[in-house]
Amino acid sequence: MKNRSHKRRESRGLGAFFLAFTMPFLILSGCTFDNSSTIQAKKIIQYHDDRYKDNPLSGTVINGVRVITLKAYQFYFSPSTIVVNKGERVRLIVSAEDVPHGFEIEGLSIPGYNIETVIRPGFPVTVEFTPDEKGAWEIICTIYCGFGHSTMKGTFVVK
Ligand code: CUA
Repeated sequence: MKNRSHKRRESRGLGAFFLAFTMPFLILSGCTFDNSSTIQAKKIIQYHDDRYKDNPLSGTVINGVRVITLKAYQFYFSPSTIVVNKGERVRLIVSAEDVPHGFEIEGLSIPGYNIETVIRPGFPVTVEFTPDEKGAWEIICTIYCGFGHSTMKGTFVVK
């Protein structure tokens, strides 16, 4: 009896040993996946009714186009969350309110827009596109704008 329980402990020990060795590989292979710059990989979360059902749609619809003003500050976007409908035309007017900023909806390509565009105060940048996939993506700042640059983020929701 004593001997058997000892054996069980030993096999559990082996399991932990096995995990300790395979974990780094599992994590590494996860990273490799993330590096493939597919649209799917960049989507931060699947659209979820419960999570976003109370978020009102952003901006104003003018002549069938949802027009949204996005203001960039050190070090945040206002509004921090943008919500649009799948399949509708969206016009984003992005302005820098203090120092030059940039913007990108990571994983969503906007036709004709270069993510390295420097948005300077007083010179808003307008982009137009039609999101065709439900989900939530991260809005990031693409131009170094100070110590908080890398934390300057927003969320773009398509529902
Ligand atoms: Cu704003 Cu970098």
